[in-house]
Order: sequence, then C-alpha cells, then structure tokens
Amino acid sequence: MKHIVGVALVVIILTMLVGILLNTMGLLPDVASLQGRYIDDLFQVHTWIIAFLFALIIGFMLYSIIVFRRKEGDDSDADHIEGNNKLEVTWTVVPLITVLGVAALGANTLSKVTAMDPQAMEVKVVGQQWAWRFEYPEAGVVSDVLMLPQDQQALLLMESADVIHSFWVPEFRVKQDLVPGITTEVRITPTELGEYTVRCAEVCGLQHTYMLADVKVVPEAEFSNWLASEALVADDPVARGQKVYEQYGCKACHSLDGSQLVGPTFLDAFGHTVTLEDGTTVVADETYLYQSIVDPNSQIVQGFVAAMPQNFSEQLSDEQISDLIAFIKSLSDN
Ligand code: CUA
Repeated sequence: MKHIVGVALVVIILTMLVGILLNTMGLLPDVASLQGRYIDDLFQVHTWIIAFLFALIIGFMLYSIIVFRRKEGDDSDADHIEGNNKLEVTWTVVPLITVLGVAALGANTLSKVTAMDPQAMEVKVVGQQWAWRFEYPEAGVVSDVLMLPQDQQALLLMESADVIHSFWVPEFRVKQDLVPGITTEVRITPTELGEYTVRCAEVCGLQHTYMLADVKVVPEAEFSNWLASEALVADDPVARGQKVYEQYGCKACHSLDGSQLVGPTFLDAFGHTVTLEDGTTVVADETYLYQSIVDPNSQIVQGFVAAMPQNFSEQLSDEQISDLIAFIKSLSDN
C-alpha cells in the first residue's frame, strides 16, 4: 500500500510537470482560425495524455530503480513470476479504451474542422512549381496574395498544375495536398486580422523551399474594396499589363520615366524608331515589342547589351504579353 501511494504521487507530480511544460513551451504559433481552435483543443488533450503516459512509464521505472534497488550484501535471486492474468487484461483493456477515446475525440474534431458553411466564399487555389495563384471566380479576380475577410468561411478549392504540393498556413493549422487531376478542398474561417504565409508542405522540386505566398486577413469592408478594385484591374488590359510589369521583374531594367537602366525605358517606346545594333532601324510597333519580349536577343537596341532573360515566352501567357504591350502603348504619345 505504501508503495502504491508513493508511486501514485510520483506519477501525479511528473504528469503535472510534463503537461505544464508541453503546454507552455510554445510548440505552436498563435492560432488564427476557427478550425485551428478545435485542433488546438484536441492537441491540448493529447499533450495531457502524453504527459500522463510518460509519467506512468518513467515514474514507475524511476521509483522501482530507487526503492527496490539491491541491498548491500543481498545476493539472493528475485521472485520468479509466471504470468498475471489480471495485470495482462488490465494493460490490454485500458490502452484499448484510451485509443478508442482518442479516436472518438479525433472524429469529433474532424467533423467540426470540415463543417460546411453554405455562405462560404469560394477561392480557387492553383499550385505550380513554384508559385501559388488565387482566383476569386465570382469577381473574375486573380491574385498572387490570398486575401481573406475576417470571420467568414472561405472554401479553398485546390488544384495542381504539375506535381503534388501541399497548402499549409501554420496559424490556420489545417493542411491539404494539391494533387494533379483532382480538386481537393479545405475550409478556413480566419479569426485574427494579420499577415501570414502559405508554405508548400510537400517536397515538389528544386525551389520547394521558396514556394511561399502572402496571406492577408482583413475586415470584411476592406476585403470588398480590394476585390472591387482588383476586378477593375481585371477588366483593363493596361492595368493588367502594369501588374505584369511589376510582378515579372520588368521594372528592374525598364524605367517608366525615360531614365536609362539596363534596358531601354518604356516611356514613349511604342511607335518610336529604334536603331538596332547592326545599324538598321525599325519602328517599335506591336510585332517589334512582341518579338523583343519572347526573343530579346534577336533585336538588341544600339547601346544596350543582351541582358534580358530569354524565357518570357514560357513565363508569360500570350494574354499577359498582349496586356504588357497594351501597358507600354499607354505610356506613349506616338
Ligand atoms: Cu510545392 Cu513544395
């Protein structure tokens, strides 16, 4: 009896120490979604179960090692025990009930995490080596930032353009694979305003580590404004072209104010007569601009070097190239 009380005390104290340690050491970032809260509740239950089982095994072992160690001068053998039915049934039934209990808790949490809100806003998520794209089909908006209104469920419908990727925002807790050929889904109700990062959680090739995108959770009104202004951009080839100019690195080498950087300025470039390296002249029309984007080395402007990446025909769609040309045209009086 004395030993049972002793070992129970050790187990209780060890459980408290390990449980408090696990729950206060900040294993997870601050939670920022409704689904994440359910997962954190489950996680907390699990850490206490883990703490208790750890204490049960380690506590018994330490107690036995210290209290039942060999006494000085005692060379006798220990008792030989052959089976103990009561003990064996106990240590089979108790873990069985524990595991079934954990399974029930898990199923309950899963049903809460995947609970549908019929009002949910649909966002299409496309993963490709190595970038994320977010489409808001109702507004016809495509964005490289995932904008989400606070306290409204978003249904992310996810597709991959090539290999398996995995959508993961640690603060939202939920994680879902993007699998070529099928559409997977995940539901997120962001509860905290702020900026987060989508990480790809499936090794998907060379730049996997850098497959990141910004997530912004904003108030409902701000979200509506953003969506409306993006929808305007989506309707205007010049505005779309400006986005291409900003997002695909054009602006690093081509100014909009006439100053000469690595490449010719875009100001008044359209309709201008250009002298090429070999002395010939050509008028910068749509054909010339298209050619300069998809095969830049074919016509180097006099005074410049062949420094432009030659893969824009792969990086940009034909529509993006024509948007970019529309943007360049808009910068010219010619
Ligand atoms: Cu996509 Cu890793």
